[in-house]
Amino acid sequence: MRNQLENIKQQALAALQSCQDSKELDALRVKYLGKKGELTAILKQMGKLSPEERPIVGQVANEVRQALEEALSVRQTELQSQALEQQLAEETLDVTLPGKASTAGGLHPLNIVLEDLMDIFQSMGFDVVDGPEVETDYYCFEALNVPKDHPARDMQDTFYLGENLVLRTQTSAAQIRVMENRKPPIRIICPGRVFRADEVDATHSPVFHQVEGLVVDKGITMCDLKGCLEQFAHEIYGPETQVRFRPSFFPFTEPSVEVDVTCSECGGKGCRVCKGTGWIEILGAGMVHPNVLRGCGIDPDVYSGFAFGIGLDRLTTTRYKISDIRLLFENDQRFLEQFQGR
Ligand code: PHE
Repeated sequence: MRNQLENIKQQALAALQSCQDSKELDALRVKYLGKKGELTAILKQMGKLSPEERPIVGQVANEVRQALEEALSVRQTELQSQALEQQLAEETLDVTLPGKASTAGGLHPLNIVLEDLMDIFQSMGFDVVDGPEVETDYYCFEALNVPKDHPARDMQDTFYLGENLVLRTQTSAAQIRVMENRKPPIRIICPGRVFRADEVDATHSPVFHQVEGLVVDKGITMCDLKGCLEQFAHEIYGPETQVRFRPSFFPFTEPSVEVDVTCSECGGKGCRVCKGTGWIEILGAGMVHPNVLRGCGIDPDVYSGFAFGIGLDRLTTTRYKISDIRLLFENDQRFLEQFQGR
């Protein structure tokens, strides 16, 4: 019996070494130590032994059991750490590899300037309103004191969509919609796209952007217009900037002016950007024509107002020293990326 026990021990230990995973190990444990296991089977026969032999064989049996249990648990730990190492080797992660960078979008330069502009006018109490890009002839011209066949229509090359439907040539169309729907005091700006059948070149595009401004109240004068635009120019170009009004003509304002600011590039000395004049034209403006107020149901004997139309594209190209307006519309990412975070 002693020999049998020794044999079992030797066999079990040998089998243990060739065990490759914990499943095989479990099977082995059952095979030798389980209820129907080989060791147990031998122990069951202990009854047949003489009382002198019993404790001796019993001790050997216990030693064999202990030795097997120990060996099993040692092998189990070995297998577990082997498995872990293998897993680590398979799932290695090279933390020094460069990550996948996600590129953040940015605002278009026109929108950067527009946001600044809206901030400035909102801080002066202006509301921002929207108007349709497809307009009726009435809102784009007629209500702005430009009847059909009036020579002033030639000032703007219009895209007609039908006899009475146009792509708006100016954001001034929004003035009328606002005055029809609001009572003075009115203080609004209306930014948006406008369209003219112009030839494309470095300073012209058939699509460009204006920001219309309109103030109507009792006692509004040309001084208010000048103060408002001066404030605007100082905030956009810096406090040393000067503003100059030149007489001009728009059918819907009387008097009308063209407004220049001192060139931000040369400070007024004259350079390439301002074509040697020292001045850059940024907008048209004037006092709202009494006919326009009257047409919207506002009494011109009680109320007066001023309006202006800022060329947003010009403002943007001079601010960022962009030499060609077409860059604003071509969506070349190499160009647009330069404005990120500005
Ligand atoms: N709408 C004019 C233009 O497009 C600009 C303007 C707006 C002039 C408001 C006066 C008042 O040229």
